[in-house]
Amino acid sequence: MADALDRAGRHLLARGVSEPRRDASVLLGHATGLSREKMVARPDRAIDESQRHSFAALIGRRAAREPVARILGRRGFWKSVLRVTPDTLDPRPDSETLIEALLSEAGEANGGRHVLDLGTGSGCLLLALLGEWACARGVGVDLSAAAVAVARVNALELGLAARCRFVVGDWGRPLKERFDVVVANPPYLSEAEIGRCEAEVARYEPRLALYGGADGLDAYRAVVPQLGPLLTPGGLVAIEIGRGQARAVTAMVEAGGLLIVGVRADLSGIDRCVLARRR
Ligand SMILES: C[S@@+](CC[C@H](N)C(=O)[O-])C[C@H]1O[C@@H](n2cnc3c(N)ncnc32)[C@H](O)[C@@H]1O
Repeated sequence: MADALDRAGRHLLARGVSEPRRDASVLLGHATGLSREKMVARPDRAIDESQRHSFAALIGRRAAREPVARILGRRGFWKSVLRVTPDTLDPRPDSETLIEALLSEAGEANGGRHVLDLGTGSGCLLLALLGEWACARGVGVDLSAAAVAVARVNALELGLAARCRFVVGDWGRPLKERFDVVVANPPYLSEAEIGRCEAEVARYEPRLALYGGADGLDAYRAVVPQLGPLLTPGGLVAIEIGRGQARAVTAMVEAGGLLIVGVRADLSGIDRCVLARRR
């Protein structure tokens, strides 16, 4: 097992994978069904022929720069593991900044909150919030019908389907209701940033989830003017932003008549979330 892991790690390193050893270990665990603890405890353990074949196939996919989450079809986010497919963005730990910001501002107490997730993708943000607020209900919207289908499966698998529904549509347009909390992670990469993306993103993430127009801000121009009418008085919104977008997005949110609560940074210290309230 240790030999196979070493060889795979070297192969992935040569193909430009940034964490080759870690990824090889995760994929070996998947191929053998063994936990990390079991693999570490007995590195000399033999693997059989079919496990060797399936490990080689997984390493081949990773060497072509397919992300590990896409290969496994699963990704951990906040406190749950979600299904991901080629139609959904692979949820990022950075987006957990939005959940932390909302929990700290709105409180963790159970209220009957009504929550909206604009650009729901896998449903990760809405489902994390419903998991924290046991009496909340919510709606997730996405332009991609295929992403909405994945979000519905995630809601069912997490036992949250009775408290949420998912709608295919263009941001808030299909909605007539108002919400106490809105969360949104719009596509925000500019033309230039898309061109510089690593292979994992450029080849495997849906373009609809990434591309924010020439300057990366097109989706904010569409979403921000909708926020006031979607929020109840005093309602909170957390919007994810890309590197260097804080000033432009806070200006748009203020121009949309909302009160800025603050800008929150992710674990790397990059401004990641604009938090605002309706007056
Ligand atoms: C950056 S991804 C975020 C996905 C998920 N919320 C997350 O945080 O992982 C942006 C999402 O917005 C969706 N989207 C793009 N344009 C949209 C539009 N006009 N209306 C609704 N959703 C849209 C994409 O399909 C994608 O799922």
